[in-house]
Amino acid sequence: MRTLRDIPALREALDAVRRRDQRIALVPTMGNLHDGHLALVESARRHADVVVTTIFVNPMQFGAGEDLAAYPRTLEMDQAQLEAAGCDLLFAPDTAALYPRGLASQTQVRVPGVSEGLCGGSRPGHFDGVATVVSILFNLVQPHLACFGEKDYQQLAVIRKLVADLHFPIEVVGVPIVRAEDGLALSSRNGYLSAAERQAAPMLYRTLCRARDALEAGEAPEPVLAEAGEALRAAGFAPDYLELRATDLGPVTAATRDAVLLAAARLGPARLIDNLTLTLPS
Ligand code: PAF
Repeated sequence: MRTLRDIPALREALDAVRRRDQRIALVPTMGNLHDGHLALVESARRHADVVVTTIFVNPMQFGAGEDLAAYPRTLEMDQAQLEAAGCDLLFAPDTAALYPRGLASQTQVRVPGVSEGLCGGSRPGHFDGVATVVSILFNLVQPHLACFGEKDYQQLAVIRKLVADLHFPIEVVGVPIVRAEDGLALSSRNGYLSAAERQAAPMLYRTLCRARDALEAGEAPEPVLAEAGEALRAAGFAPDYLELRATDLGPVTAATRDAVLLAAARLGPARLIDNLTLTLPS
């Protein structure tokens, strides 16, 4: 696996791939890789000849007071894992390479509608940062497909709309959430948890499972969500949101069958997110 740090080297390597008429898959990440990221690489491997992973802790998607400085940077460990997972090219630029004129004057991409509410409500500007950096990476790599985790459900919806609206000829592949044995969705931010918080953390998943079962059994959403919020608070979480939406993130109506339960909650220093899809009874 080659690691490239600048745009001309990336373009040169990819020109050679395109001359061989090979299919390119892109896996954008912020590094500190875990099995969830490796599942993205495996999925990319299955769909393409050449897998390009990017590692870039994107300052534009972090708000003031968020964990940009603390975000774990583990390039050497990440390189070893990517190599073992069969990644062909790692693109790991610094901020100056991607935003050479500085963040303040950087052209931005905003995806209206799906970026609003949920994580977009509690992290203003977050999805503008995600949409901007993903557009830059799509433009630089010009992959045939790109893989994103379903844990970041809203992010996946934002990227699907971005691709449709900007006519990127790229297939977006959603990859199922990878969980620890106790149900906790894998996330780089789980590393912020103390031992006691890590023990409490799977309560987020268990609470979503209980709420999903109740909703699928026909219980009314409002009390189910209220009870789930109480259960999370009792377990030491500070819920950010706990919402039932249609799978396209629109509101649930009497006609909605395919729905998704989404949650974000703080536990100690970590903000955890998770979601479960479900079928509402008719
Ligand atoms: O999901 C992530 O790790 C990031 O939001 C992404 C898609 C790599 C953009 O920085």
